[in-house]
Amino acid sequence: MPLPFQHLLSTKQLTRADAEEILRVSEAMETIKNKGGSELLKGKILASLFFEPSTRTRLSFETAMLRLGGEVITTEGVQFSSLYKGETIEDTIRMVSQYADIIAMRHPEQGSAERGAEISKIPLINAGDGPGQHPTQALLDLYTIHKELKGVDDIHITMVGDLLYGRTVHSLSFLLGLFKNVKFTLVSPPELRMPEKVISFYKEKGLQFTEVDNIQDGVDADVVYMTRVQKERFADEKEYDRLKLKYVLNGEMLKGKKAIVMHPLPRIGEIATDVDALPNAKYFLQAANGVPVRMALLAMLLQKA
Ligand code: NCD
Repeated sequence: MPLPFQHLLSTKQLTRADAEEILRVSEAMETIKNKGGSELLKGKILASLFFEPSTRTRLSFETAMLRLGGEVITTEGVQFSSLYKGETIEDTIRMVSQYADIIAMRHPEQGSAERGAEISKIPLINAGDGPGQHPTQALLDLYTIHKELKGVDDIHITMVGDLLYGRTVHSLSFLLGLFKNVKFTLVSPPELRMPEKVISFYKEKGLQFTEVDNIQDGVDADVVYMTRVQKERFADEKEYDRLKLKYVLNGEMLKGKKAIVMHPLPRIGEIATDVDALPNAKYFLQAANGVPVRMALLAMLLQKA
């Protein structure tokens, strides 16, 4: 079943059926990846445009394309591209869409992916638009939850940290809202609460959510999803320093708890390293899941799966 849209900009575009199809194709891609890959996307080119720092997202997109026999062209950092000279996103995308077959783009401005998609002749995937959305991260998060908990309905997820600027928790909230009876506990300092666009979505969907400021109130969940305070979104460094380590999850807090611990990474101290060896820790596995999920998305958007 092909996806009913050309560009993947936001998880709000997806239906439950789309999400389940992506999970199914991702599972098939995991098998293909474990066998060393395939030639499904031979002759196709991914333009990997990262105008903001990235390690996992860029490398896993590029790995995904290479594992499927395709090729990659890349530009990294605004300072190495014509955006630095003042070129608009529209002009960059107009040109790149004549070079490649599909684009993955990360850009510091919220709404940049929509702007690029209006111009692009080829599928454009939002790989993070400032504090906006990060739909492919949410899909690999969903894949991880689905695999680890054997389903997504009836789960209780606690989201911790920078819920205001953290785009992954916005995209993941919209995605989990497609499933039945998902309950949210939101742990953040008052300054970094979940934005109104997500809160009004919970309310519209009748989703149960509670906002608390104590991490211990959230560890009795199925998933504890930690996030980094997004330093690059702060105008005032002192404010960042004051808020950066309000919530640190350590091994002691997880004693006797069944929750799986997730994090989109990089972690900047929010998860103590003594958690890494616990069976709860799933964040490195989560990062590995980025490859099969992005293989699935590339293949589906190029109508090859
Ligand atoms: C996240 C991002 O870029 O939004 N990282 C990622 O893609 N794995 C989270 C973050 O940078 O804190």
